[in-house]
Order: sequence, then C-alpha cells, then structure tokens
Amino acid sequence: MSDQHKVTVELGERAYEIHIGSGVLARAADYIAPVLARPKLAIVADANLAETHLPVLQATLDGAGLAHDSFLVPAGEASKNFHQLAELCDWLLAQKIERNDCIVALGGGVIGDLTGFAAAILRRGTRFIQIPTSLLAQVDSSIGGKTAINSKSGKNLIGAFHQPNLVLADMDVLKTLPPREIGAGYAEIVKYGALGDAAFFGWLEENGADVLALDAAAMAQAVTKSCQAKAAIVARDERETGERALLNLGHTFGHAFEALTGYDNTLLHGEAVAYGMVLAFEFSAMRGDCPSADAARVKAHIAASHLPASMREIGNGKFAASALLEAMTQDKKVQNGTMRFILAHGLGDTFIADDVDEDMLRAFLLAQGAQDA
Ligand code: GLY
Repeated sequence: MSDQHKVTVELGERAYEIHIGSGVLARAADYIAPVLARPKLAIVADANLAETHLPVLQATLDGAGLAHDSFLVPAGEASKNFHQLAELCDWLLAQKIERNDCIVALGGGVIGDLTGFAAAILRRGTRFIQIPTSLLAQVDSSIGGKTAINSKSGKNLIGAFHQPNLVLADMDVLKTLPPREIGAGYAEIVKYGALGDAAFFGWLEENGADVLALDAAAMAQAVTKSCQAKAAIVARDERETGERALLNLGHTFGHAFEALTGYDNTLLHGEAVAYGMVLAFEFSAMRGDCPSADAARVKAHIAASHLPASMREIGNGKFAASALLEAMTQDKKVQNGTMRFILAHGLGDTFIADDVDEDMLRAFLLAQGAQDA
C-alpha cells in the first residue's frame, strides 16, 4: 500500500484515519477489518452504484470473511428526508446492527449525510465508515462528522455531529464521474488554498489542469492536501464555535444563487461555492480588506478551471439585488439577525465578518451585474 496517503483526524479517543489512493475500494476489507468489533457490517449504498462499486466492496468483504447486507438508497438530494431515514433505521435494526457494529456509507454526500445521521441516532450512536464516491464528498462532506437530512424549512437543518470511524477515498472511483461533478468537487479543493494556504493555491494554479484531467498523482496530492486541511480545522474546532466557520468561504454568496436557481442542476453546490469565493474576494477587495491582485487571482483560477466566475454564467444571468440580499439574510449562517460572511485579508488569510454593511453589499452586487430591483 505504498502508493497510499494517510491522514489522521486527531480527535483524541475518537480519532480516525482517512486513506487516499488508487484501488482503496478493492482493498477496503484490509482497512475495515481492524476497525470492526465483530465480523459483520451493514452497507448503505447509492442505488446507482449497485452494479458498479457495490460489488467491488462486497467482494473484498467476502474475501476477508466479513458478513454484510446492503440497503440501497435512491440517488439524489430528495433522499435526505425523514421517510428515507425511518426506512433505513428500521432496516438497520432488522439486521440486528448493534452500537459497536459498523455501518458503511458508499456514495456521495447524500448517502454520507443520511447514513451518518442514521448512525448518530441508531441505538443512541452507532459506529460508521465513509466510502465517499464523489470528489466533493472525498474532500469535504465525508470528513468532520457533520450529518443531516433536509426539512421543508431548508437543507441540512436536522442533523448531528457524529464522527465516522474510518474514511476511504479511492481515486479510481472518480474516473466514472461526469466532468461537471469533478469541477464542482475541485471548487472545494480550491477553497482550502484560498481560505488558509496560499502556497497550496499557487500549486493549484500550476497543477489544477492535471487534477481536473484526473491525473492520478496530481489528484491524490490535491485530495490529500484538502483532507489534511479539513482534518486540522476539525481537530481544532469540531463543533464550529470558531475557525471551522472558515470552511464556509463562498457559501453565503453561493447559497443565495443556489436558492434563486432552485437547488437544481442549473448550479451545482460546488459551482455555487466557486462563484461565491470569487464574490467573497472581490467584496473583500472593495471593502479594502484584501489586495485586488489576490481577488483577481481567485477569479482567474476559477475561470481557468471552467467554473462560473461571473454572474452572467449562472442560469439566465439575471438576478435582482433585492432577491439575493433576501436569500442571504435567510441563510443558516445568520446569527442574531446579522449576516455572516467569510472574507479575506489576502489569499490564504480569511476571517469571519459580522459587520457587513447592507448598502455596501447591495452596491457591490449591482456592480457585479445584479439588477436594481
Ligand atoms: N462543510 C463544512 C464543514 O464541514 O464544516
């Protein structure tokens, strides 16, 4: 396993490892067996993976003599609901999954969030393993223990912090993803450079095209660097009482565009974060917090990565400033009625801003192409 990368999320007795590399899924049992209390587990998989990755996982578990049963969840965000959660919990209990057993989540962010939340509440907390199959899940949502389902009032509003016991990120599974999904995941990689590591951002400017082209070594390095960045932040601020909020760089702006485009395929979450980062840096430059040259580098790299770097590239390009402002004040990062933005002093140097002036924000959005309505 010499080609593998290992990152540890240092959380004391809840510490866990992330293994990153090619062929990790086919060898999953080698990593999973040492984590198990008894040779039995339950797999929760994206139904779209039933014929592709699931048999690979089942084969390695069979080879190691580990008993398993699988539950398939329909692909898509709509599965993060109470009904699916109840079905899953009932199935896990019917399988006699005990607190010390492991539940494996095989899929993207939807499967990880739903399974993680089921694990958090099943028998008041059951162990679980993340095998993320999307780039976004590998570099972000599978690490750090945020689990949730959606409600009528919004996304991810019902959930729990519940850390996994192991994360396995196989570079090979990325090869079958549509390029647009790779791009959306790549935006989250850029985020780690932009928010806290200017040297990594510079590396991405040089090597981003290779990462996007799925060059195995470049991708493994980018994923590993991202996991290291996230692991370090989570270890210092597991419950988001401070620094972890920096991971929301680009999110307040991005969520507004997601909300106004209806959370559909017009704008993937990672694409919204990409454009949100452009706006966060440009707005920081307008406030005098950040050199314009750094904002220009962020915008240039997002554009070079074929991600949206201007408003006219999103949907029909027409957004009313008032509707964007309204969506931002509805964001779940609003605290005491104050909008919360992650802004920048420069590349790799971000901070939490609770002092954003609404008139200045409106003027900024108009300057970026929003309509005066
Ligand atoms: N995706 C942001 C976080 O895990 O805190």
